[in-house]
Amino acid sequence: MRHIATYLFLSAAFLSCKNDPRPSTDDPALFREKPTPASTVSDPILLPKTGAGNFESLVADFEDKDRGIWQKPELVISFLGDINDKTVADIGAGTGYFTFRLVPKAKKVIGIDIDPRFINFLDSVKVRLPAVYRDRFESRLARYDDPLLQPGEADDVVIVNTYAYIENRDQYLKILYKGIAAGGQLLVIDFKKNNLPVGPPDEYKVSLAQVERELNAAGFKISKIDKDMLDYQYIILATRPAKPNIEH
Ligand SMILES: C[S@@+](CC[C@H](N)C(=O)[O-])C[C@H]1O[C@@H](n2cnc3c(N)ncnc32)[C@H](O)[C@@H]1O
Repeated sequence: MRHIATYLFLSAAFLSCKNDPRPSTDDPALFREKPTPASTVSDPILLPKTGAGNFESLVADFEDKDRGIWQKPELVISFLGDINDKTVADIGAGTGYFTFRLVPKAKKVIGIDIDPRFINFLDSVKVRLPAVYRDRFESRLARYDDPLLQPGEADDVVIVNTYAYIENRDQYLKILYKGIAAGGQLLVIDFKKNNLPVGPPDEYKVSLAQVERELNAAGFKISKIDKDMLDYQYIILATRPAKPNIEH
């Protein structure tokens, strides 16, 4: 129940978020058309683990045209460095706000979500990508307690505005750890506390300090923290050490 309530709260809060529906990637050819209207993407279905949030509202929210102003996706992605040769997994991909900005830059991108409606949405965007990008993208319906990555499959993982949705994170992070290649990176971006005008209410946020603690406990090594670049969010970059420092 807590999970569903959290999701609905976060979703509702997200309705005030401002996004960019036509991502400005390095390669504008990536998005030739508007995303398929949500109503044609999938039938409304009840999803026990993501709640019954109105899908069209969620899509409009995640892809709000003004989101780029505060989300600064290109700057965020630059935290990963050169990903030309990397497989990047986007956990909680949603409509692919980050996924499809990663595609032109990475060797492969796996868009992971637990909501089949978003998987359908991602696939509906995929079919309209130029072939060179289409082949680099894979959507993956995961489980709420497991991103379903093969051992070492992802060089880098991004979790944007999704960390707070994940329950039993101590267990989840240990499973995720195994899905990241030795020396790979985990980038977590989520909302700062302090009753900001964008994002969920404070009680549904996970503090930066808590994320730090949880990542350390799971064996990740924090390599960079930025609290200032984004007005409403913190950024944590962690590494999966080449030599695990704890038993998994
Ligand atoms: C607020 S949206 C963020 C979407 C996207 N990352 C963005 O920034 O636009 C959260 C997404 O996480 C997904 N989600 C929730 N719990 C999840 C879990 N345990 N594993 C993977 N995805 C999850 C939801 O279905 C939803 O698409």
